[in-house]
Amino acid sequence: MTSAPTAPKPKAGLEGIIAGDSDICAVEQDTLIYRGYSIGELSEKAKFEDVAYLLLAGGKPSASELEAFNRDLVAERSLPDDAIDIIKRTATQPAAHPMDVLRTVVSYLAHFDPDCQDNSPEAELRKSKRLTAKIATIIGHMQNVIDGRDIVKPDPSLSHAGNLLYMMRGEKPTAEEEKIIDVSLILYAEHDFNASTFTGRVIAGTLSDMHGAVAGAIAALKGPLHGGANEAAMDMLKEIGSIENVEPFMQNAFATKRKIMGFGHRVYKNGDHRASILHGLGRAYADNKGADAQKWFEIGEKVQNIMSDEKGIFPNVDFPCGMTYFVMGIPVPQYTPIFVASRITGWCAHIMEQHSNNRLIRPLSNYTGPMGLNW
Ligand code: CMC
Repeated sequence: MTSAPTAPKPKAGLEGIIAGDSDICAVEQDTLIYRGYSIGELSEKAKFEDVAYLLLAGGKPSASELEAFNRDLVAERSLPDDAIDIIKRTATQPAAHPMDVLRTVVSYLAHFDPDCQDNSPEAELRKSKRLTAKIATIIGHMQNVIDGRDIVKPDPSLSHAGNLLYMMRGEKPTAEEEKIIDVSLILYAEHDFNASTFTGRVIAGTLSDMHGAVAGAIAALKGPLHGGANEAAMDMLKEIGSIENVEPFMQNAFATKRKIMGFGHRVYKNGDHRASILHGLGRAYADNKGADAQKWFEIGEKVQNIMSDEKGIFPNVDFPCGMTYFVMGIPVPQYTPIFVASRITGWCAHIMEQHSNNRLIRPLSNYTGPMGLNW
């Protein structure tokens, strides 16, 4: 019997392994860079649409490029009636999490996309814009169905972030709310070879299509160790419930080795720059809203202090996201779908990059089972 070639055994979870080259994003200990620009600067000076263009087209847009890109996004916002029907039939099923509905509808939309089987750069850019535009609409329509309200059609006069909130609620957001959602979309847009993006690249690496790769990425993002952490973090804060209960809750969590959701990171060991940006915006919003909203930040900040003092572990972006979306009145099960509304741009950029210089992604496993058994 000949054995497969041997390779050094990686750490569990492929920790520390560089799995390929990419021009899209650099995850640094103190910041995050999208195609050369830091998220600190992008979240102050850019809008989500600028960042989506930067990621998908490869550079900062000129004024006319941005105008054309915005026009394309707005034109692609509506959904085919059949897709709306799928949302109506699935969104209120007791077993259906909004991430599952989103995954199903994205997969279904493939059949209506004339470029579905075309992996050329031009076709993939068109599909990226359609997916970016339509995912926000799926989330909005889904929330309308869950709330029992008529479907709120997209408003072409609103930005991507403003329209997303408008479609979910049927009311136009304030400028502050629109800004917070816009910044959260910028912060969530891209994060190199994280689990969902890597999933998308593995699927794309077989020369499969963009919708399939995105459906797989949505499934990967749903898990509470990844994007699902923003929902899990807020569920945990609701379970804690009061400032008095933080200390006993945390000591019990430490004693039982329960993970504190929204904390820790595979790469960032001294904190996540995205978390401090979003925390600042969410805290200011809660302060303006009053004591009921402030309470959640007070509980969250106490959890943060105990985690950093006793464990040296810091919040990741999902922790302030949970509190911020909650005080804005966004239903918890939509937090991870909103993450998708942003990360779709990073996923599509990676799928295009994978297809532009493809080699099948096919690692080895370290076989630990028996050998030489007789049947
Ligand atoms: N609460 C309590 N202990 C923790 C936490 C946490 N959130 N995170 C890490 N640790 C401890 C862990 O128990 C382990 O301790 P020990 O060595 O004594 O067993 C040590 O730190 C290393 O943890 P790990 O789980 O092996 O680290 P990892 O690099 O495999 O995991 C992580 C990274 C993000 C999965 C993990 O920190 C975690 O489960 N966090 C909670 C879920 C979460 O917030 N996920 C969002 C990630 S960032 C944004 C995104 O992708 O959406």
